[in-house]
Amino acid sequence: MYRVAVVTASDKGARGERADKSAEVIGKMMAEINYEVVAYEIVPDDIEAITEALIDLADHRKAELILTTGGTGFSPRDNTPEATMAVIDRVVPGIPEAMRVESMKKTPKAMLSRAVAGIRRGTLIINMPGSPKAVRECLEVIIPVLPHALEILT
Ligand code: MTE
Repeated sequence: MYRVAVVTASDKGARGERADKSAEVIGKMMAEINYEVVAYEIVPDDIEAITEALIDLADHRKAELILTTGGTGFSPRDNTPEATMAVIDRVVPGIPEAMRVESMKKTPKAMLSRAVAGIRRGTLIINMPGSPKAVRECLEVIIPVLPHALEILT
């Protein structure tokens, strides 16, 4: 059973002004494949807050997989890809490429997500967009490859 951490990047969510529906979707879909969600973090859209959460979850709480949601678009406060790039050792372009290609079949707006994925030692970090619908659609794309990805990583 792999250990998964969920990081929601959202100013409103961090202030308690918005229910975290996307994290709920991730939790349900991870439970369906028997992965254990060991942490749910909601952080504001600051690069430092996001990098701190990612480092803590990867290095100290030993999550094998970190799924982020939100902050991948064009607004000035969308910082999740930059925070992720700052903490990874190796980039994994194929995962966000696949998410965008498949999501483009549902909405052309999928090309507006700047999501990245990468590896920090034994942890795979994957950005996903913020809406529950987008999260579901992106997870459907990546779930089939997760077991093999995590198996060769750890
Ligand atoms: N991907 C999927 N599968 N489905 C979606 O509805 N929405 C897009 C895109 N990716 C979407 C999607 C939209 S509208 C935006 S602006 C970008 O993700 C960035 O979203 P974020 O800022 O919430 O991270």
